[in-house]
Amino acid sequence: MERTFVLVKPDGVQRGLTGEVISRLEKRGLKLVAAKFLAVPESLAEKHYAVHKGKDFYPGLIRYITSAPVMAMVWEGTNAVAAVRQTMGATRPWEAAPGSIRHDFALEVSRNITHASDSVENAAGEIALWFAENELVDWQQCTDTWIFGKN
Ligand SMILES: Nc1ncnc2c1ncn2[C@@H]1O[C@H](COP(=O)(O)OP(=O)(O)OP(=O)(O)O)[C@@H](O)[C@H]1O
Ligand SMILES: [Mg+2]
Repeated sequence: MERTFVLVKPDGVQRGLTGEVISRLEKRGLKLVAAKFLAVPESLAEKHYAVHKGKDFYPGLIRYITSAPVMAMVWEGTNAVAAVRQTMGATRPWEAAPGSIRHDFALEVSRNITHASDSVENAAGEIALWFAENELVDWQQCTDTWIFGKN
């Protein structure tokens, strides 16, 4: 089953939206595989956002992501990468679809509540960066056949 990496960023945590983000992913049918609440060290922030190094918003992005704790998570489900990106909404909140998290709770691209992996390949890299193998929980949920079942 596909997995993706999700962060509730410092603004989401500070605004008390951690539970809201988790709740929406749970209700969508995604399964929680790992979770960790932490203050992000600068070295981890730099690795996570290495692709943006050199861009004008990069220094501010590193300051933002290290400014307060985050909730780091791994979620699993059918097409998890695309499904979670859809639930988060477009990077720029004013372009995010109504009903998405960034539409419903954000206005600025620099305070857009969440991160979610943008490809299966990047998801694997980000999961390995943020979690040790033994922190990923393989488990059966009693709703599995009602959510992942095929006829
Ligand atoms: N022009 C910008 N000004 C300020 N911050 C920006 C800007 N563009 C992107 N960011 C920040 O950098 C993050 C990473 O940008 P990216 O293009 O990867 O968007 P994303 O994939 O939707 O977001 P994320 O990687 O956080 O899920 C954005 O979520 C946002 O917080
Ligand atoms: Mg991104």
